[in-house]
Amino acid sequence: MDVPSKVLLADLASEIDHVPTNYVRPISDRPNLHEVETLAGASIPVIDLQGLHGPDHSQVIQQIGLACEEYGFFQIKNHGIPERMVSRMMAIAREFFRLPESERLKNYSDDPTKTTRLSTSFNVRTEKVSNWRDFLRLHCYPLEQYLEEWPTNPPSFREEVAEYCTSIRALVLRLLEGISESLGLERDYIGNNLGEHGQHMALNYYPPCPQPELTYGLPGHTDPNLITILLQDDVPGLQVLKTGRWVAANPIPNTFIVNIGDQMQVISNDKYKSVLHRAVVNDEKERISVPTFYCPSPNAVIGPARELIDDEHPAVYRSFTYQEYYDRFWNRGLAKECCLDLFRTSA
Ligand code: OGA
Ligand code: NI
Repeated sequence: MDVPSKVLLADLASEIDHVPTNYVRPISDRPNLHEVETLAGASIPVIDLQGLHGPDHSQVIQQIGLACEEYGFFQIKNHGIPERMVSRMMAIAREFFRLPESERLKNYSDDPTKTTRLSTSFNVRTEKVSNWRDFLRLHCYPLEQYLEEWPTNPPSFREEVAEYCTSIRALVLRLLEGISESLGLERDYIGNNLGEHGQHMALNYYPPCPQPELTYGLPGHTDPNLITILLQDDVPGLQVLKTGRWVAANPIPNTFIVNIGDQMQVISNDKYKSVLHRAVVNDEKERISVPTFYCPSPNAVIGPARELIDDEHPAVYRSFTYQEYYDRFWNRGLAKECCLDLFRTSA
């Protein structure tokens, strides 16, 4: 059967009642949605950041360290980002993906090196199977360097997204201090070893899917950056691998999901884990997520922290520039194994 030709998935998905063959995963690589762990007790830890700057400080640091070691993921509440700002961010994302096709397409590019672009799937230039997703990617630090590239529709896009980015950055800097401390490093260690710092974000749009068992919004992957702060709407879809099982990270109002990225695993010399996660889709509702990917600047040299290397814990990774790592990531196309293996000293 002929599939209408569309650049973006959203415009295709609304016209079809089956998944086109280029989105269908081989049987050995399907989501097996009935096998996913959904019990609240199995879910990833929730950490209350209220305590970070008070008498419970050392307890919170301990919780962060434990979550980074055992899950590579945690959820944060009382994070200090106003509820209104968060709901405006989500509303802008929703408005953006509701714009007419011709308006959205003004931002389209399939070139992963472009710093502002709308695209679909993951990397349409290199991948064999497509993913059930459209996404807008933005670089957002240093803000003034990128703001002029951002969409101007919806009209308040630049202003509201910029506000959100700036607040999220402040939150990330607090978390980096906490994570440094939890590793036994100076509080400013991680922040001081990222060059000028970088921050990207994605607005992910997952349309309803007529056959969600056959495809992924995003297949299992680890994030190549340092740390990710994920905002998601109220539709489930994110799943995290925990001791060989996929666990649903279902939305909790007013919390963000935080996950350790590959660069943090390197800096921690494998103490903290950049964990596989994926986004599945459903046949009823669209889903929107807004991850912030905090990262080193491209020329920053990343390697295991010296303080974490000794005779018993030799350096597990060689040093590299973030640019080198990032290029490898995009060119490999979300291959199952994590990109980290390419940088191991034993490789
Ligand atoms: C990502 C990601 C998960 C989600 O964009 O890297 O893991 O729930 N997203 O959208
Ligand atoms: Ni991810």
